[in-house]
Amino acid sequence: MSRKYRIAVIKGDGVGPEIVEAALNVLSGLGFNAEFVEVNAGYEFFKRTGKPIEEDGLNVLKSCDAVLKGPITTPLDRPDFKSINVMLRRELGLYANVRPFKSFKGISLRDLNVVLIRENTEDLYVGIEGIHLGTAIALKVISKEATEKIVRFAFNYAIKHGFKRITVVHKSNILRMTDGLFRDIFFTVARNYNDLECNEILVDSAAYQLIRNPKAFDVLVTENLYGDILADLLAGIVGSLGLCGSMEVGDTHALFEPVHGSAPDIAGRGIANPISQVISSKLMLEYLSTKYDDQWLAKLAKALDSSISTVIEERRILTPDLGGNASTKEVADAILIEALRVL
Ligand code: NAI
Repeated sequence: MSRKYRIAVIKGDGVGPEIVEAALNVLSGLGFNAEFVEVNAGYEFFKRTGKPIEEDGLNVLKSCDAVLKGPITTPLDRPDFKSINVMLRRELGLYANVRPFKSFKGISLRDLNVVLIRENTEDLYVGIEGIHLGTAIALKVISKEATEKIVRFAFNYAIKHGFKRITVVHKSNILRMTDGLFRDIFFTVARNYNDLECNEILVDSAAYQLIRNPKAFDVLVTENLYGDILADLLAGIVGSLGLCGSMEVGDTHALFEPVHGSAPDIAGRGIANPISQVISSKLMLEYLSTKYDDQWLAKLAKALDSSISTVIEERRILTPDLGGNASTKEVADAILIEALRVL
């Protein structure tokens, strides 16, 4: 019998509550033995209360086995509002952002199986900016410590998941010191991993090559900003942001959320693609199954993985982002039914 897990749930903003609800139904329907503890956080919560997250919310997140999170809005017209996503990453020490991008037959632009590993705590995202004599300046921070951590993580991830190649993405021809440090640390750490082919590519070239020939890549490791941008590019190749989930992990905590944002243009209409949140949930099951050596969860994750591919590739029940006319709930239900059939 699988142990009972405590999962913190942040529903988030925009389409967040719709897709998180759908993913929770799938998890419960599959028999995932968990207590879901809701934690209020996000821009809507901030507008109501003046706080980014409920009192004691961070402690609740830290006390749970994992956090399942929907997207949170960071409005452009509120300079006083700091990104809650960046705050959560810092507070929970989630230094590695792992984003697997896998193609689906008949849907994706190219055949690919690429895992993007993004450093999640520094670079321009430290948010240190200022204006001096009419010139705006932002600080790009790349530390030896954080870079070693993410690069080691990426190498270990590649080995553990049976990949043969790892590529560092940078722009050290221009940013000699910051990106130069990131690149140098990559090749220093690489000396300890003889079984992997280690490559490098400039970020602009990476954007081009990923579209032209994504089969040339397995695991990519990069800085925060490049990772943010390349993730959306890869989601475009997969076929929709609604098909891409992520794991954010540190030494003690882990958080699972879609790659995309709160999609305000389609929020409240019941048509958001829930698969990004279901894939994030599947990544959570895989993480917990490894951490607690729980074979039942590994089985659930496998069933979910195959049912997601089946539903997408059958192309009968799809949300409008993929050219269909099904609702969020219909897609999630189809995945659950197929997963139960496989189990
Ligand atoms: P977005 O990722 O929310 O949306 C981009 C496009 O993809 C939109 O056309 C949207 O409709 C579509 N899309 C996204 N998710 C979808 C889904 N599940 N199903 C179908 N279509 C989907 O990017 P946008 O509009 O630039 O950002 C909106 C807000 O989200 C911003 O405030 C931004 O700061 C925030 N954001 C939050 C993130 C997070 O919480 N991790 C990540 C990225 C952005």
